[in-house]
Amino acid sequence: MTALQRVLRPAFRRLDDWASRVFGAAWNPLHNLGALGFFFYWIVAVSGIYVYVFFDTGITEAYDSVAYMTEDQWYLAGVMRSLHRYAGDALVVVMVLHLVREFAYDRFRGARWFSWLTGVPIILLVLASGITGYWLVWDQLAQYVATATTEWLDWLPIFGEPIARNFLAPDALDDRFFTLLVFLHIAVPLLLLLALWLHLQRVSRPRINPPRGLAAASFAALLALSLVVPATSHAPADLAKVPTVLDLDWFYLGLYPLLDLWSHGTVWVTAAVLTLTIAAMPWLPPFRRPAVAQVDLDNCNGCARCAEDCPFNAISMERRTDGKPFDREAVVKGSLCVSCGICAGSCPTATPFRRAGALVPGIELPDSTLVDLRDRLDRMADAAGQQVYVIACAHGVRPEALRRPGLAVAELPCVGALPPSFIDYLLSRCGAAGVYLAGCAEGNCHFRLGDTWTEARLDRRRDPGLRKRVPRERVRSGGFEAHQASRLRQSVEAFLQDVRGLPPQEVPSARQLGARLGRAREAGGTGSP
Ligand code: HEM
Ligand code: SF4
Ligand code: SF4
Repeated sequence: MTALQRVLRPAFRRLDDWASRVFGAAWNPLHNLGALGFFFYWIVAVSGIYVYVFFDTGITEAYDSVAYMTEDQWYLAGVMRSLHRYAGDALVVVMVLHLVREFAYDRFRGARWFSWLTGVPIILLVLASGITGYWLVWDQLAQYVATATTEWLDWLPIFGEPIARNFLAPDALDDRFFTLLVFLHIAVPLLLLLALWLHLQRVSRPRINPPRGLAAASFAALLALSLVVPATSHAPADLAKVPTVLDLDWFYLGLYPLLDLWSHGTVWVTAAVLTLTIAAMPWLPPFRRPAVAQVDLDNCNGCARCAEDCPFNAISMERRTDGKPFDREAVVKGSLCVSCGICAGSCPTATPFRRAGALVPGIELPDSTLVDLRDRLDRMADAAGQQVYVIACAHGVRPEALRRPGLAVAELPCVGALPPSFIDYLLSRCGAAGVYLAGCAEGNCHFRLGDTWTEARLDRRRDPGLRKRVPRERVRSGGFEAHQASRLRQSVEAFLQDVRGLPPQEVPSARQLGARLGRAREAGGTGSP
């Protein structure tokens, strides 16, 4: 599986990068695939309701009512029919891209299994919605799809009588069966909506609406396509004849030729194996599950910032259990935690300036503690000549690519895991001339919200914000895909030149500080000189 990811990931990184340059990071369709899926779903729903007003559910009337929309009412009902079809096709395209992209970036394992697994019924429901739609036109394509599908379904011994019998001869099909198909075409998309709701239960603040510009551009493209190439029907169905050459909709019906090539049993086994393999992917090797965030009640004041910032709804605020004079305490649900550390970045007690007691914040990752981070930074401060500190996201450019004199690099699971007080600490206590935060490319944060919260904290729009005393010109942030080492190096180099041009700061030398910090720690405090 990782071999496939090794091929797909760089391909997506380059595609993402290209699309961000063409559309801008905010409008990048690849950053908005889930949201576009919802948008296309709503277009399908609204155009479907409109088309249904004109649709006649009788066997003979169905074809005529669709023909009336397409030809006599081409300017409105016809356009709605085309929008219905093309938005449905677009839904399949974004769904497949979304699935492959989540796989390529490895955003489906561990605690993230839920969104993946609930995606599997979504695939089936999307396909079923489209396929039942093709039946309703009751043209030759509908006849082919209905016959092929029911014969395939009849291979399973679940129906008392073979349902394909309905399509054997003209008088075998009655209006009631046809009404059942209409019902299915409405019920399945409603079930799909339910599945989509479930799909998002474990992510906080899911992006379900694309940016307005992207939505408008996508709609305009569908409208233009509907006007230039309107959706049409084949000749009316005729159960006395076998339909021959057909123009398939490859998005929904692309696998139908297999039903002609293979036996029905083989197609069932293939479909079942494929579905189960996709469903099982979160549990296939490689297995790695980093330790989840832990709350330290002695340092939790119940402020709820961590719960608000957690991108995966893994923290709940519950009644206090330790008798401390706060109403609530943070509780981490381990099965939902993806170990991003963003909660530590949001905790007000996560400050390296603490004088008394060890640096244990209210919440943090056991594998990436803040005391360890501060020790790393202090050690870097001891090394002579460090000017700019780069705090790099573990999912972005590898730190080795940045090592050069004058730069100190520390890696975190996510830039959102850095409490802003550490920036203050680096500038005011470690002798840093500047701090550069290198996160994932804009709009493509591996942990969904790390880059958004980081920017908001730096701009003091979100607590904990960067303290006012921190000179903002000495702090810069940037987003880079993992392959963009040279672009990041250039950006850091430019920052280094900029901070060199600033008036010198009144800070103790790194060596003095290292010695003072060491002395203070030995004396039992955590050493804020
Ligand atoms: C019409 C179909 C679908 C729609 C509209 C849809 C929509 C969404 C949305 C809105 C998100 C949240 C994005 C965010 O804010 O970060 C999401 C996340 C996700 N989806 Fe889908 N999805 C669809 C199908 C699928 C399928 C078929 C799969 C895979 C089998 C899948 C797997 C995932 C995964 C793994 C996540 C990421 C959750 C995380 O970051 O941990 N989705 N989807
Ligand atoms: S942010 Fe820190 S102090 Fe606030 S509730 Fe969470 S753990 Fe407790
Ligand atoms: S590390 Fe913290 S913010 Fe990240 S998922 Fe776990 S509890 Fe949520």
